[in-house]
Amino acid sequence: MSPSRIAAPSLRSKVMSAHDAAALIDPGSTIGMSGFTGSGYPKEIPLALAERIETAHAAGDPFAVRIWSGASTGPELDGALAKADGIEFRMPYNSDPIAREKINRGEMQYFDLHLSQVAPMAWEGFLGPLDTAVIEVTGICEDGSLIPSTSVGNNKTWIDCAQKVILEVNSWQNMALEGMHDIYYGTALPPNRVPIPLVRADQRIGEPRFRCDPDKIVAIVETDTPDRNAPFTPPDECARAIAGHLIEFLRHEVKVGRLPQSLLPLQSGVGNIANAVLTGLIDSPFDDMTAYTEVLQDGMLDLLKSGKLRVASTTAFSLSPEAQLGLNRDLDRFRDKVILRPQEISNHPEVIRRLGCIAMNGMIEADIYGNVNSTHIMGSRIQNGIGGSGDFARNAFISAFLTPSTARRGAISAIVPHVSHVDHINQDVQLLVTEQGLADMRGLAPRARAELVIEKCAHPDYRPMLRDYYDRARKGSYGQQTPMLCGEAFAWHQRFIETGTMRV
Ligand code: COA
Repeated sequence: MSPSRIAAPSLRSKVMSAHDAAALIDPGSTIGMSGFTGSGYPKEIPLALAERIETAHAAGDPFAVRIWSGASTGPELDGALAKADGIEFRMPYNSDPIAREKINRGEMQYFDLHLSQVAPMAWEGFLGPLDTAVIEVTGICEDGSLIPSTSVGNNKTWIDCAQKVILEVNSWQNMALEGMHDIYYGTALPPNRVPIPLVRADQRIGEPRFRCDPDKIVAIVETDTPDRNAPFTPPDECARAIAGHLIEFLRHEVKVGRLPQSLLPLQSGVGNIANAVLTGLIDSPFDDMTAYTEVLQDGMLDLLKSGKLRVASTTAFSLSPEAQLGLNRDLDRFRDKVILRPQEISNHPEVIRRLGCIAMNGMIEADIYGNVNSTHIMGSRIQNGIGGSGDFARNAFISAFLTPSTARRGAISAIVPHVSHVDHINQDVQLLVTEQGLADMRGLAPRARAELVIEKCAHPDYRPMLRDYYDRARKGSYGQQTPMLCGEAFAWHQRFIETGTMRV
C-alpha cells in the first residue's frame, strides 16, 4: 500500500482497520455510502459492519442501520448487509438480489426515488439527519481535499451533510482518475437557487476534488479492492433488432431536419438492451456525438474508442470487469473525454431539458397507451427502482423506452392492456421500441397510440389478444378518450400469477 495516497500529514494518524472504523458506526444510525452501480462503493467497512451486526444478532442484541447511497452498489455492501439482516431502510436504488428478496418479503423498507432528487431532499431536511458518510476515494491531497473514484453519485452531499466522515482510500483505483471529475458547489435551496451554468455536455463548471472538513474525518481505511460490476451479455438478435429500429428512427429524424447529424446528447440506461443500442451506434452514420448520461457502460466506452462519441458526461463508470481493466490500462487517453459529475447535476432536469437529451431506457412493460412500468413485476414485486429514468424521460428531447416484446420465454407480454405499476405516465413517453418495431407516439391521442403500439410493438402471439381487448373496450368502456375495461385491465397479470402464463 503506497502511503502517498494520503498526502495530508495530519490525516495519516486516522488510519485504522475496517473493523475499528465499523465500530464507530452507531446502531440504528443513517449512513450515506458512496457508490453508483458496482463502482466507487466502500468495500471493506460494510463487510466489517455486516460481521459486527451478525455477531450482535448471535449475542441476542441485534441492530440494523439505514443506508443511503448514489444508486446500486456491490455485493460487499448491499449483499453483505442485507444477508446479515443489517439494513432497516434503504434508498434510493437497489439491484442486489439478496436485498431485493428482503424488500419483497416486507423485511426491509425501500424508498425508491428519482436520483436527481436525493441530494436536494437531503439538504431540504426531508430525509432526516445523516449520521455518518462512508466514502471511497482514490486519494487524499496535501490540502485535505479528496480525489473521487469511479463514481461521484451523492458523495459531495454525504460529505457535507454527515456529522462524521469515514474514508476508504482505495489504491486499486487509478490515480489517473484525478482531474476527470467536475464537482459543482453552486447548488442552493429555494429561494436562493440560481441556474446551473451548464449549456454543453462537455463543459466543466466545478472543481476536480471534494472539499472535506478534516475535523469531520474520524477514520481512514486503506483498501486495494476492485470495483465489481456484472459483465454484459453480447447483444443477441432481439437486442440488435431493438437497436436497429431506434437507430433507423434517429436516421429519419436527421433526414427530416429534426435532429443534427451529431444527434443530441445521448442518455443510455442500465442493462443489456441499452448497451446494445450504444454498440449499434458504432456503425451508424452519426459522428461527433456527445453523451449526457448517468452510467458509462461498455457500449459507450466502445463508442468513445471508435471516435464517434466525442465526450461523455456521467456520474459513474459502470463497466464489465474486462472493460474496466482495459480502461485502467489506458485511462490517460480518456481524461479529456469523460466528465464525472455529482448525480444531482448529471440527472438535473433543468440541464437535461436545456441540452435536449435523447433518453433511451429499459422497461419492464408498457401499456397500449404508452404508460411505462420500469420497476415492478406483476404490480407488487420490486425489480430495481426508477433510477434516473424519470429524470431523463420527462425532460428529454426524445424519450424512448426499450424492451423485448415478451419475457419469461414468451409467458409474459411486455405490452399489456394496463401497466401493473406506473413509473412513467404516457405524457413522458414518446417512443416504445421492441424487437417487433417502434411506435412513435409523439402528437398522438390515446386511441391512435393504442392502434400503433399494438401494431408495431406487441408480439404476434399477443397481438390478437390485445386487439380483442381494445375492440371490446371501445364498445364497453365508460368513456372513449382512453377506452378501458376496469375489471379486465389487470386480468393478464392475474392470469400469470395464477397459471404461470399471460396466454389464455
Ligand atoms: N414482466 C415480468 N417480468 C419481467 C418483464 C415483464 N414484462 N420484463 C422483464 N422481466 C424480468 C426478467 O424476467 C428478469 O427477471 P429475472 O432476473 O428474475 O430473470 C428481470 O425482469 C430483468 O429483466 P432483463 O431482461 O434482464 O432486463 P434489463 O437488464 O434489460 O433491465 C429493467 C430492464 C427495466 C429492469 C432495467 O432497465 C431497470 O432497472 N430500469 C429502471 C432503472 C433505469 O431505467 N435507470 C435508467 C437510468 S441508468
